Amino acid sequence: MTVEHAAELLRSARHGIAITGAGVSAESGIPTFRGEGGLWTKYDPVKVASIETFMADPASYWQAARERATAVLAARPNAGHVALARLEELGRLVAVVTQNTDGLHQDAGSRRVIELHGSGRTVACMTCGRREPRADVQARLDVEMPPRCRHCGSMFLKPTVVLFGEAMPAAEVQEAYDLAERSDVVLVVGSSLVVYPAADVPLAALRAGARMIVINAEPTPFDRLASVVIHGRSGEVLPEIAALTGA
Ligand code: APR
Repeated sequence: MTVEHAAELLRSARHGIAITGAGVSAESGIPTFRGEGGLWTKYDPVKVASIETFMADPASYWQAARERATAVLAARPNAGHVALARLEELGRLVAVVTQNTDGLHQDAGSRRVIELHGSGRTVACMTCGRREPRADVQARLDVEMPPRCRHCGSMFLKPTVVLFGEAMPAAEVQEAYDLAERSDVVLVVGSSLVVYPAADVPLAALRAGARMIVINAEPTPFDRLASVVIHGRSGEVLPEIAALTGA
């Protein structure tokens, strides 16, 4: 019943948007942050992923990020990412707003992707601004910790992601709210919906009258606000929904 109901809502969507979190990439081998086996069950996010600790000791960030980044760089899109790209192709979705920094939506073929927390695929020097592909920096961590800027030698090389305590990218936030306020269906996938301001974007869609579909392995704080709630794995549920919307 629920996948059919979700498909029915998406079939009628004229301005559907998807909002995704780490759960959509879990089946690509990337650990989530919260929930079972989440990164924050092993590390204190404020200690390893805040701008304050990064500026105090970049090595502490790189040592904690190293393990996850290896999984991220090796990851490929799963059937969930592919189904979202297909829903966009079919005109059921106009965009994906993501909290993920792994770039897998774009790899799966999604054309309009708004990265609210930046991209982990690039690293920028905070001293001279020079940018490098993450893979290149990752490759020299065995001999250089923290890694240094190839141009100016600075040890403040930071991935272009939003760390805790850092401002969100203004243009992306604005675009996400514009999309939410025009949306008629909001499909929320694989997020615990506890991190703000990202979690306010689906609420903005609701405030604008959109219907909400939640797909998550565990209950979320927004389940009671949604028209359809599916507790399952997005890599299994999304292809089913895409198939029912006339893929
Ligand atoms: N399919 C669907 N949902 C899943 C799957 C799956 N295969 N695997 C896990 N989940 C669910 C978990 O139950 C959890 O509720 O995905 C959710 C992931 O939640 P978080 O780990 O909290 O990730 P997210 O909501 O994206 O975190 C928000 O917090 O740490 C910061 O910047 C980081 O962008 C991140 C933000």
